[in-house]
Amino acid sequence: MPDLITSYMGLKLSNPIIVGSCDLTGSVSGILRCEEAGAGAVVLKSIFEEQFMLKEDILAKNVSLHPEAVDYLRKGGLLEYAPQKMCQMIIEAKKKTKIPIIASINCQSIKLWPSFAKQIQEAGADGLELNIYFLPLELKTPGSKYEESYVKILREIKNTVNIPIAVKLTAQITSVPYLAHKLTESGCDAIVLFNWFLEPDINIKNLKTRNILGKGNFNQSLRWVALLADRIDCDLASSGGLKNGKDLIKQVLAGASAAQACTLFYQKGLKVIKDVLAELVAWMKEHHYKAIEDFRGELSFKTQELSFKDMGEADVYFRAQYLKAYKKFNVI
Ligand SMILES: Cc1cc2nc3c(=O)[nH]c(=O)nc-3n(C[C@H](O)[C@H](O)[C@H](O)COP(=O)(O)O)c2cc1C
Repeated sequence: MPDLITSYMGLKLSNPIIVGSCDLTGSVSGILRCEEAGAGAVVLKSIFEEQFMLKEDILAKNVSLHPEAVDYLRKGGLLEYAPQKMCQMIIEAKKKTKIPIIASINCQSIKLWPSFAKQIQEAGADGLELNIYFLPLELKTPGSKYEESYVKILREIKNTVNIPIAVKLTAQITSVPYLAHKLTESGCDAIVLFNWFLEPDINIKNLKTRNILGKGNFNQSLRWVALLADRIDCDLASSGGLKNGKDLIKQVLAGASAAQACTLFYQKGLKVIKDVLAELVAWMKEHHYKAIEDFRGELSFKTQELSFKDMGEADVYFRAQYLKAYKKFNVI
């Protein structure tokens, strides 16, 4: 029987399937269900600083406080205690489960990232995923400024806690390798490629705007996993569009140590984890692989480039323009 154990952000996972941050991991019973279904780890539903901002506004409206006191609360006084519910959940879940629990946070104010991280570490989380996202709205702010913030936040957190830290990136980054390299230099233990978000839409009947769910892009994740794997000293997890065991095998071949998924579990239930793992096991047997590390990164850009087996294959990862592909497929 092949060994499915994998090492991800310094944690030992029984297999590479991670239930990504979503409502399925938002309660102790949810975490237990993920473990029972066979997940290698879970990432908890993110806590968002904004959630607590809202509560403060209610507080500000309902309690007669000096404006400076309200300002203090808004800037962090009360927010310091915001992760309590998640911390309680971690404490309880750690008593009942064995799988690694990775917490997830999204903060707006720079001061709160380390403060939240500290409380989460104290609660016993095995790791922490930083769900960092800025919508680059400002006309006069260059992209590099936003990207520097990722590194700044990571550094602040690494100076505060010693549990492993993963950074979950958006695909809308000018140079994924540069940022990944900078994060690695700053002690990042894993990078998750990629997060996806709500997307805007317009209802042309009632002229109203609305948000729709985004969609994970499996091949985009595959490209960047393959282009980064083993070129930076940092583990990679894919995230987006994983549908079955074949997709998991592809991500590991590209160089991922683990693969996160959510939509698949919403669509087919957590029981599908068994099928995904069965497909992985069958494929490993067929190819005589005994362990994940035996084939992880076998088709990464770096491995192919080094082996000079077939540069045409490595070139697939950075070939993005149409012309050659159309020629190859005899379309033109
Ligand atoms: C209902 C739902 C809620 C989500 N909530 C979060 C969240 O709180 N934090 C986060 O980082 N990602 C969140 N995500 C994104 C997932 O963690 C993950 O990156 C993505 O869903 C993976 O793509 P897949 O759904 O195609 O597998 C959410 C996804 C879904 C479907």
